[in-house]
Formats: sequence, structure tokens, C-alpha cells
Amino acid sequence: MSDIVVAYCSRTGKTKHAAETLAELLGADVEEIREAKSRDGVLGFLGASKDALLGKAVELTSTHCLDGRRAVVLATPVWAGTATPAMFAYLRSVDVASVAVFAMCTYDGGAGKTFYRLEQVLPAGLRATLGLKKPDKDPQRDEKLRAFAERIRGALAAE
Ligand SMILES: Cc1cc2nc3c(=O)[nH]c(=O)nc-3n(C[C@H](O)[C@H](O)[C@H](O)COP(=O)(O)O)c2cc1C
Repeated sequence: MSDIVVAYCSRTGKTKHAAETLAELLGADVEEIREAKSRDGVLGFLGASKDALLGKAVELTSTHCLDGRRAVVLATPVWAGTATPAMFAYLRSVDVASVAVFAMCTYDGGAGKTFYRLEQVLPAGLRATLGLKKPDKDPQRDEKLRAFAERIRGALAAE
């Protein structure tokens, strides 16, 4: 088991791909945060927007634990200007008190209040962040992920 875990949620695979690439660069484990609710199709999209906008509490079908970890990297798509309800459910389900928390998000237009909203529920805030706009179309994506992995390594080495 690695002492770093990348925990991601993803509806259409972009955040998943970025999370898996980052995990490989860090030699970290990767965990998918899975929701009970389906977000497929137009109805799924509309429900997802509404739940994110209202900050609705959702149920997860995956279970998570940060025992033995030194750091967690949260990876979320931006929904309605914030992190997904599943990411907030994840943060309610784990104890982040003794781990360094990093975050990255993927989006089409802007990251909005994603990192600010995450920091509001994290006692020690975020150590470093990365926003990736349309990562599937960004030729610099892997370079940005490599630089982010270096920042994470540097932050952990300085502890
Ligand atoms: C319900 C919903 C709401 C979204 N809201 C935003 C938004 O507020 N701003 C934005 O830039 N992109 C928004 N997007 C686009 C996604 O953040 C973007 O496509 C992301 O990279 C998808 O990641 P995924 O493939 O891992 O699901 C939204 C997508 C969905 C499904």
C-alpha cells in the first residue's frame, strides 16, 4: 500500500484519466468514489447539477479509509461551480485530520468555487491545487500533471 491515495469521482472519464495518470506519477494508490445515484443521460445531468447547486448530501456505494496514509489527492469534476456531492460525501466518510490534502479538478469553463468550497470543509485546508480545463483537449495536460506531482512530492518532503 502506498502512503498516498488519489481519490476521484468522474462521470465521463476525464477526471478518472487525470487521477490515474497522477497516481502513476506519484506511485500512489487510486480509489474511485462511487455514488448510489445514476448520473447517466440528460436526467442524470440535470439531477447532478441540481444536487451540486443545492449541496445535497448523497450516498456512496464505495467505502474509504485513510488509515496508514500520509496524503490524499482529491480529484473531482466541477459541477455547478463546485466539487461533486460525492466528493463532499467522501470527505464526510474519512478522517482527514492526520493527512495532507491536495486537490485537482477538471472542468469545461472555469473551476468556480471548487477549491474554496473544499477548503471550507477541511480543517487544515488544501496544500496545493491543480485545475485542468478540458484535459482531453489540452496538449499540456501530462506536463501539468507532472508539475503537480512534483509539487506534491516537494510539499511532503518539506514536512
Ligand atoms: C452536472 C454537471 C455540471 C457541470 N458544471 C460545470 C461548471 O459549473 N463549470 C464548468 O466549467 N464545467 C462544468 N461541467 C463540466 C465538467 O466539469 C467537465 O466536463 C469535467 O471535465 C467532466 O469530468 P468527468 O469526465 O470526470 O466527469 C459540468 C458537468 C456536469 C455533468
